[in-house]
This record gives sequence, structure tokens and C-alpha cells, in this order.
Amino acid sequence: MNPPGDNPSTKDERDPAGGKRKRVGKIIRNLLVVLFVVFQFVPVERSNPPVESDIPAPADVKVILKRSCYECHSHETAWPWYSYVAPVSWLVAHDVEEAREEMNFSTWDRYSDKKKRKKKHECWEEVEEGEMPLWFYLPLHPEARLSADDRKVLRRWSKSAGAGSLESPQRDDEEDEDEVDSD
Ligand code: HEC
Repeated sequence: MNPPGDNPSTKDERDPAGGKRKRVGKIIRNLLVVLFVVFQFVPVERSNPPVESDIPAPADVKVILKRSCYECHSHETAWPWYSYVAPVSWLVAHDVEEAREEMNFSTWDRYSDKKKRKKKHECWEEVEEGEMPLWFYLPLHPEARLSADDRKVLRRWSKSAGAGSLESPQRDDEEDEDEVDSD
């Protein structure tokens, strides 16, 4: 005379809530896998159009710009592996597109002299405020971090006159006393 539900061997099958939870979990997991796969087929623009022109800058400045800024602000992007994996790829492509729109070193000569001066000035502004390079980029690209020396070089260049010159920036009298000439 076993009352129904008293038999331990059939307990699992008689726990409809647990079985349902398991099934829903499996469906969600499968759905995520399918979504992830489908995401990979969404086209992502990862182009490097030709370099039309380049910002003229002294060699020491150029090295820093190339290392810390060109991945986003030029047509010389070395698209990293994670830029091929959606949905991260969408974010990367979006950032590069936006960055090139804001300031593109590879189409530098399209800017008027006034605009060049403004962009050059903004370069230091963004770095000084810690806005650039974008913070979330740095853990993946530690080489893009700016040292105190890098910042000094950028600052002096950005504040120097001209729309972009190959000459080393002049040592301005004002504001420069804090800099010790190391070499
Ligand atoms: C990981 C990509 C990335 C890197 C690296 C990067 N930037 Fe940017 N930059 C952006 C994006 C995206 C924008 C536009 C949105 C914004 O202002 O946040 C931008 C905007 C700018 C602007 C325009 C700001 C404005 O509001 O007018 C300047 C100037 C700039 N960046 C300078 C630099 C400099 C200098 C470096 C290197 C030291 C650098 N960026 C590195 C992505 C990047």
C-alpha cells in the first residue's frame, strides 16, 4: 500500500518544477550559442583605406602618436584578434570609425590650417584630461600608455605654434620652466 509520491526512486520524475528549470536553462543556453554564431555573420567594417597624407610631426612626437593614437585615429589600424569576434568587434569598429571621424591623421591634409591647429591643440587637451587614449583600450594595449616623458613631449608639441611642422617645437618662454631639459 504505497501512497503515490512515497517511492524515493521516482522522486526526480515527480519534481516537475526542477525538470522544467533544467529544460529552460538548456533552451536559454542553446539560444545564446545560436545568437553568438549568428552575430558572427553580421558584417563589420574593418577597412584600412589608403593613407592620403600624414600629420607632419617631429620624430619623437610621431613615435608616440603612432604607438598610442594611430590604432584608432588613422588608416593604419592593426585590427586585433578580438575585433573579429562579435559582439566586441562591433564596439571596436564603432570606436575606430568615430575616432577617424573626429580626427584622422591619414587624411590630415584635408583639414584647413585652422582646423589642423585646433586638432593639434586638442590632442594635448584630451591627453591632459586623461580622455585619450580611451581607458578601456589600455589594459589590452599597455604599450599605448603614455609615460610622463611622453606626455611632456606631446604637451610641448601640441602647444607649439603651427599647423603641424617637422621642426622640433620651440621652447616657449612661458609655461616651460617646469621642464628640466634632460638631453
Ligand atoms: C581605442 C581608440 C582610440 C585611441 C587609441 C585614441 N583615441 Fe582619440 N578618440 C577616440 C574616439 C572613439 C573619439 C571620439 C569620441 C570621444 O571623443 O570620446 C576620439 C576623439 C579624439 C579627439 C577629439 C575630441 C573632441 O571631442 O573633439 C582627439 C583630439 C583625440 N581623440 C586625440 C587622441 C590622441 C592624442 C590619442 C593618443 C594619445 C588618442 N586620441 C587615442 C578613440 C581613440
